[in-house]
This record gives sequence, structure tokens and C-alpha cells, in this order.
Amino acid sequence: MFSKICVALLAATSVFSGTDARQVRKSEVHSRQVEAAKRWRTSGQILKRATPQNITFKNPKASQFFVDGTTIPEVDFDIGPSWSGLMPISANQNETRKLFFWFFPPGPEGSLDDLIFWTNGGPGCSSLEGLLQENGPFQWGVGQAKPVQNEFSWTNLSSVLWVEQPVGTGFSQGTPNIRNEDDLAEQLVGFMQQFLEVFSELKNKKLYLTGESYAGTYVPYIANYIYTHPTALPLSLQGIWIADPVLGWDVVQEQIPAVAFVHKYEHVFAFNQTFMKQLDQLAITCNYTGYIEKHATYPPKGLLPLPGRSTSAERGCDLWDVIFDAAFRINPAFNIYRIFDTYPVLWDVLGFPGSFPQIQLAPLYFDRDDVKKAIHAPTNVNWAECSDINVFPHGDASLPSSFTVLPNVIEKSNRSVIVHGLADFILIAEGARIVIQNMTWGGKQGFQTPIANDSFLVDGVGALGNAHTERGLTYLEVALSGHMVPQYSPLAAFQSMQYLMGFRATP
Ligand SMILES: *[C@@H]1O[C@H](CO)[C@@H](O)[C@H](O)[C@H]1NC(C)=O
Ligand SMILES: *[C@@H]1O[C@H](CO)[C@@H](O)[C@H](O)[C@H]1NC(C)=O
Ligand SMILES: *[C@@H]1O[C@H](CO)[C@@H](O)[C@H](O)[C@H]1NC(C)=O
Ligand SMILES: *[C@@H]1O[C@H](CO)[C@@H](O)[C@H](O)[C@H]1NC(C)=O
Ligand SMILES: *[C@@H]1O[C@H](CO)[C@@H](O)[C@H](O)[C@H]1NC(C)=O
Ligand SMILES: *[C@@H]1O[C@H](CO)[C@@H](O)[C@H](O)[C@H]1NC(C)=O
Ligand SMILES: *[C@@H]1O[C@H](CO)[C@@H](O)[C@H](O)[C@H]1NC(C)=O
Ligand SMILES: *[C@@H]1O[C@H](CO)[C@@H](O)[C@H](O)[C@H]1NC(C)=O
Repeated sequence: MFSKICVALLAATSVFSGTDARQVRKSEVHSRQVEAAKRWRTSGQILKRATPQNITFKNPKASQFFVDGTTIPEVDFDIGPSWSGLMPISANQNETRKLFFWFFPPGPEGSLDDLIFWTNGGPGCSSLEGLLQENGPFQWGVGQAKPVQNEFSWTNLSSVLWVEQPVGTGFSQGTPNIRNEDDLAEQLVGFMQQFLEVFSELKNKKLYLTGESYAGTYVPYIANYIYTHPTALPLSLQGIWIADPVLGWDVVQEQIPAVAFVHKYEHVFAFNQTFMKQLDQLAITCNYTGYIEKHATYPPKGLLPLPGRSTSAERGCDLWDVIFDAAFRINPAFNIYRIFDTYPVLWDVLGFPGSFPQIQLAPLYFDRDDVKKAIHAPTNVNWAECSDINVFPHGDASLPSSFTVLPNVIEKSNRSVIVHGLADFILIAEGARIVIQNMTWGGKQGFQTPIANDSFLVDGVGALGNAHTERGLTYLEVALSGHMVPQYSPLAAFQSMQYLMGFRATP
């Protein structure tokens, strides 16, 4: 295959004699992209799937939430039936706290036996971002002129429930009062109970909890709550899927691997040599250099030490911020969520392009009155992708999930998947490896054998990163993907979800 391409290129160059470069027509570039995108779409072997059927809800209250898929502003195709609105977090008649949800039944190819729950992170960021830009049935991504159908919608897998949580996020109503992740889980489960009263046909489905970023804290705590309160929900929790998750200390997920990350992508950061030498010197002083080679071994030699005394960074050792500042000097469009972005910053209908500045002025898509009306959202709320108020009024008192609930969740679940974009700088994949090697589940600490390179094989693509599974935990690193894996690498995300749900045998 490779030699063929070389021959083709040689043949093409030889057509132009002397110093002429090979000519590439725009139409050729375009057709290559169309062809490659088509190859993505037609890949993905489905090993097991339930017979799809139509879903109807008998409770008359459900009809109040019905969304006509032909009435979504700016969307010029039918997104199919869905249900959305505000649902209280308890049965109390006076309950003032309500979460906003948008529920989609499975598309024609999806299973009716399953239910996927999705939450974005933050804390305080809206799951409608996930719906519109990551894994929903229609997609209006950064730089796209209008909404298009999402070929990799998770509704192709099963029913999906996007929820703006906790209280204080997006359209959700009420005053935040949670102190920690157990409070958060209790409120979310309260919401789910109310939701299942109205949409009772969804009872007894197999449940998968998914999310990204700070949802690396939310999702394991919610799963643990459900496992430790087995009668709380009439659903059968099967597993979790978390992308680029917050799992451990900042010093581990941001600082230790930061300078090595810059070296890996040296020509993307394009720092000058003097500055690189300064970074290298600081990384040595801060005990970051060589940390991974020494401590993140397979199997690990014992609990992994901190590089200093701090779980964030010692004085003068906040190298992540030093790099962050320097990156903007050279690249004003530097995107902490995907380092490959360069000038100019692309337009975003949700006003959150990469790492700002916000360039979509007003209104943001979900802040439009016509959009709010179409989806039963409160028109008196100014919607923002991430909340200005603190959804944990006094901070989140829970420890990161790898130190507490995550081991139990992996042990109780059929499958647990952690995915990580390799082009993410806000949380760095090498840091997730450190967290995993420091965690004990299923009777052992960390992975016992090394993560093989090029072991994440994506159908129709080939190796697209690294994959490893031990004792019920699957860890996937996705090449070229930024922080939001379903957005930046939808095929990889889709395939890993098929694995989570038992629709395929390997990730
Ligand atoms: C589901 O609904 C669609 C559209 O109303 C219809 O075409 C299809 O035949 C239905 N499928 C089943 C299995 O009832
Ligand atoms: C709801 O509020 C009313 C008026 O404040 C009060 O009388 C009633 O007991 C409350 N009901 C519940 C279930 O809390
Ligand atoms: C998702 O479903 C749509 C509509 O049936 C289909 O066109 C598309 O190919 C499906 N995508 C995948 C990845 O299965
Ligand atoms: C490893 O885990 C222990 C607790 O299990 C914790 O005290 C320590 O800080 C962790 N080390 C790192 C590098 O996260
Ligand atoms: C680096 O490690 C040494 C030896 O453990 C320790 O004395 C020193 O304080 C550490 N330096 C920093 C900046 O954490
Ligand atoms: C090298 O980069 C550093 C960090 O951005 C900057 O302070 C310095 O001025 C740069 N030097 C040159 C010659 O550009
Ligand atoms: C786990 O997976 C197995 C095999 O796919 C399946 O039989 C079982 O129902 C699943 N769920 C649980 C909770 O074990
Ligand atoms: C994977 O590749 C990296 C970079 O080339 C190398 O340092 C590492 O040792 C390889 N890992 C394994 C398990 O072979």
C-alpha cells in the first residue's frame, strides 16, 4: 500500500519536468477528504445489537416534553422525536431544584435495551455542549457553517440522556447547595427517579454512565452511589466511560508530564531554544524529569510518591502555567484542549472556541429564544456553556475518584473505559497513566504489563493510539484527539462505546 502511494507520487512528479512541483487541484484535495470521511463512516463492525424498535411513552406527562424534530432552529433536517425540559430532583411538591435534560430514543440502528447517560464536566459546564458538538444526533461544531447530521451519534448505539447537572449548570433551576460528590450523586439519582416516573418505559434498561473532564469525578461517584444503593434506581448499571478525566492530583495530571509533552510536540509549540533549556532545567529542579520512567513502571514498585510536598505544585514548579503563557506569545489561537490549533481562532456557535477569547458574540445558540422555546427551556435564563456561579458553593470536598470510589466501580462494573486524547494539554495522558499505576483495583496495583504502542486499532483506520485492558479496566489513548474525544475523534469514541456496551469484543 505504502509503496504504491510512493510510486503514484513519483509518477505524478515526473510529469512535471525539472523543478516543477506536483500540482494538487482543490478538487483533488476535496475528493480525498470526502473519500477518507466515507471510509470512517462505513467502518465499525457491529458484533451484537438488539433488534431496534420504536419507543413510545404512555404517561401523559411525557407529551409535555415532546420535541418535534423538524422545528429545531437552523437545523434543516428532521432530527427525529426527542423529549426535553426541566425535571425536579425529588418528589417533594415544593421542590425548586430542577435539572434540564434532553432525551433521544435510539435511531434506527440503536438498541432499545440500553440507556446512556452523558454529562460534561467543569464543574458547572453544560451537557448541551456534548449534545451539539460531541455525540448528539446533530452537530454544530467549531468552524462549521451550519448544523449537520452526526454520523457518529451515540443514538446509533441506544437511547441517550444528556443532563445539565449539577444544580447551577446551564438551564437547570435552583440554588446550589452540594458540598461534595455524594451530595451530587444523591441529587442526580433523585432526578433520575423523577425522570423514570414519567418515562417509565425506560425502567430496567442497562445503564451506562459517561462523561468527560471533571466528569472523571462525577461519573465514578454517581456509579458508586448507585452500586451502594442498589434499590435506588430501577436500572441495571453496567459500566462507565470517561474521557480525559480528572482522576487524581493536579501535579500528576498537569505538572509532571508537562515538559515531556512539550518535547513530544516540540514543533507544534515551537518554543525558542533558550526557553526550552530553561524548561528542562526547571523540570529537573522540580523532580518532574525522569519521574515516569522511574515510578510509572509496569507493574509499579509500590505507591507512587509526589515529586515534592504539594499535590498541585511547589513554589516555582507550576510549569504548566509557564508553558501556557509562553504558548500564547507564539500562537494567539493556542488551544489547551487541542494543541494543534493555530491562528485564527475559529467561530463557535457556543462561544467557547478552544481557549477563548469568546468570538461568537450574542446570542449563543442555546441562548436564543427560538431554541429555548423549541426544547422547553426556561426563556428567562441566560444560558452559558459554563456557569459563572460555583455549583459547589464551598468547593468540592470529595477526594479525586482514583483515591476513593473508582476501584469499587471498576470491580462492580462489567466494563470500565477511560479514554484520553493524546493532543490534550489541559489534562495530559501520561498523567492518567501515573494515576492508574498508583491505583489498586481487583486485588492488584496498576497495570501489570506495559501498554503496547499502536495497540488501539480503529476499524477502517488502523492503529490510532494505544489500548490496554486489565481486570475490567480499559485505557485508551487516541492519537490526534484533543480533550473532547467524541468531538475530535468521533469514530474512536464510537468504537470504544461499542466495546463498553458489549457490541464488540475488543476496544
Ligand atoms: C418506527 O417508526 C417509523 C416512523 O414512524 C416507521 O417507519 C417504522 O416502521 C417503525 N418501526 C417499527 C419496528 O415499528
Ligand atoms: C410545601 O409548602 C407549603 C407552603 O409553604 C407547606 O405548607 C407544605 O407543607 C409544603 N409541602 C411539602 C411536601 O414540603
Ligand atoms: C448512524 O445512523 C445513521 C442513520 O441510520 C447512518 O447513516 C450512519 O451510518 C450510522 N453511523 C454509524 C457509525 O453506525
Ligand atoms: C498515590 O496514592 C497515595 C494514596 O493511595 C497517595 O497518598 C499519593 O499521593 C499518590 N501518589 C500520586 C503520585 O498521586
Ligand atoms: C525534589 O526531591 C528532593 C528529594 O526527595 C526533595 O528534597 C526536594 O524538596 C524536591 N524538590 C521539589 C521542588 O519538590
Ligand atoms: C524565548 O521565549 C521566551 C518565552 O516565551 C521569551 O521570554 C523570550 O523572549 C524568547 N526569546 C526570543 C529570542 O524570542
Ligand atoms: C455483563 O456481561 C455479561 C456478558 O456479556 C452479561 O451476560 C451480563 O448480563 C452483563 N451484566 C452484568 C451486570 O454482569
Ligand atoms: C512506545 O514508544 C515510546 C516512544 O517511542 C517508547 O519510549 C516506549 O518504550 C514504547 N513502549 C513500549 C511498551 O514499547
